[in-house]
Amino acid sequence: MCGIVGYLGSKGAYEILIQGLKRLEYRGYDSAGVALLDCDGKLNVHKSQGKVSNLEKVAQAGNTNGSVGIAHTRWATHGEPNDINAHPHVSQSGMIALVHNGTIENYAVLKKVLMDHGYEFKSETDTEVLVQLIEYIKLTSSCSLLDAVRAALLQVEGAYAIAVIEQNDPDTMIVARKSSPLVIGVGDGETFIASDATPIIDYTDEVIYLNDNEIGIIRRNEPVQVISLESKEPSAINIQKLKLSVAQLEKGGYDTFMLKEIFEQPSTLRDCLRGRIVDNCSRVVLSGVELNKERFMKAERITLVACGTSWHAALIGKRLIQDFCQIPVEVEYASEFRYGNPVLNDKDIVISISQSGETADTLAAIQLARQKGAFVYGVCNVVGASIPRNTDSGTYIHVGPEIGVASTKAFTGQVTVLTLLALSIAQLRGTIRPEKLHEILSALERLPETITEALKVDPEVKKLSRIFAYAHNFLYLGRGYNYPTALEGALKLKEISYIHAEGYPAAEMKHGPIALIDHEMPSVIIAPSDSLYDKIISNVQQVKSRGGAVVAIVSHGNQAMNDIADFCIEIPEAPECLTPIVASIPLQLLAYYIAVNKGKNVDQPRNLAKSVTVE
Ligand code: G6P
Repeated sequence: MCGIVGYLGSKGAYEILIQGLKRLEYRGYDSAGVALLDCDGKLNVHKSQGKVSNLEKVAQAGNTNGSVGIAHTRWATHGEPNDINAHPHVSQSGMIALVHNGTIENYAVLKKVLMDHGYEFKSETDTEVLVQLIEYIKLTSSCSLLDAVRAALLQVEGAYAIAVIEQNDPDTMIVARKSSPLVIGVGDGETFIASDATPIIDYTDEVIYLNDNEIGIIRRNEPVQVISLESKEPSAINIQKLKLSVAQLEKGGYDTFMLKEIFEQPSTLRDCLRGRIVDNCSRVVLSGVELNKERFMKAERITLVACGTSWHAALIGKRLIQDFCQIPVEVEYASEFRYGNPVLNDKDIVISISQSGETADTLAAIQLARQKGAFVYGVCNVVGASIPRNTDSGTYIHVGPEIGVASTKAFTGQVTVLTLLALSIAQLRGTIRPEKLHEILSALERLPETITEALKVDPEVKKLSRIFAYAHNFLYLGRGYNYPTALEGALKLKEISYIHAEGYPAAEMKHGPIALIDHEMPSVIIAPSDSLYDKIISNVQQVKSRGGAVVAIVSHGNQAMNDIADFCIEIPEAPECLTPIVASIPLQLLAYYIAVNKGKNVDQPRNLAKSVTVE
């Protein structure tokens, strides 16, 4: 969580930083702030609670000059979201300013030591401790800012991506990272830093991804230098080309990013599938599997680790791998896995699923799995993020930047890649018949068209959403492949409309949630014409006979359900294993329109952040 951005060059830094913060707002929007060094050598800091637009109002009333600056958008961890706790934090003398994404775990101990040396603290944040520590070291050892930052970081436990500037030296910025992302954009006579590449892409497509325990030294008109935190030895500079485009970061005529991302799923799934289905739908090619055949051949167990929506995709992945590969599969919340003493050996494969590639718990889970000898495979969206850089191999979902905090196109991309992955392992181990493989690959190849068809329910779902304005609680039910779809549908509604919603395996409902059902609690039941259809019909009847309204998601042409459910939404036919992708479309739209009807900010729901880089 939290986004940081910095600029050092010949242009005015303020506009670049504000635009950068707007791109990073998905990482948190509790407060925002900017620190600039003006040409008279003065450090000007502006901060405001709330969104970047609030900061703009505050900053424009003051001095926003300067060609070097750092900025921050916050998701509060230590201290409530107010102006004082907003970053940048400034040292006691007012000379050093710092922005930070991460958590300093030993901040209380460090704070006490500094207080004993006469330091006073204004904020409740862990970050202020770091800037004071840097100043304390610099003053007591008469060293450079670089040496002070390095010495301070050697005392720090926790996670950080930081950028530091000093009033006396408008030609230098020091950055560093450990477990929180940081990208350096290399321009012509100018350098950018940010938590991800989105604030940088307007200016340059050349970037350096800083590694953990590295310090970046940015000096005016000099090439960027990177050194190791521990040894101070220079690291090799690896400049990479970005494949992002600015258009991918804009709303493209839609009211919100979320709606754009829902509607672009036909094309994002096409990108996700590109080049992976070959030989007239008879073979799947995933280089991550091809290059590691031995590990996949000898695997005795697969464990999927993820958080949030990605965890729901993992549950579908479990079904897919079990059905096609006949390998035992477990699914774990990354946060539980990492502290659960997992028993792993070199016959284990751990698959991490993450849109951002930066989720702290998922990253820690895979680091642990690798230490224990498992082969770690990543399914990720953001190219070059920390998780893909910490895996043995993997597959990108390639659905483009997802900006809306509630995940939509990344979820369908993840399930698509997990389907390809299961088929690829099955093909390798010979556990799938060629006709079955052909059937599913053909349906996958048609998936973009199927999703275009599914999106046609938009006006119908929009109308339906108005009917449920009254509801304070929702139940989402599904079976088999669509139990996770029910969980995901409920999560979407919760996240953006703040309506309580529970996802449940339809048959389990009678062991508890059925007690909640009355005419005020609607149920959304995912009931495509699959192997469990007859079973779910009786679950629909159980809800109806207790006075609950039912919205049924059914396969195209299902007339029978019309007589039982209150509302039916039809989805196109698909093989059973692909129905979660197709059924997700009306669920995304339903959550979206209910939230819009309630006047909620769907792209930036309260308290949430898209990239969760804290435990
Ligand atoms: C946050 C986001 C969710 C996401 C989860 C896991 O909670 O709001 O949309 O599913 O993190 O994120 P990841 O990037 O690892 O998929």
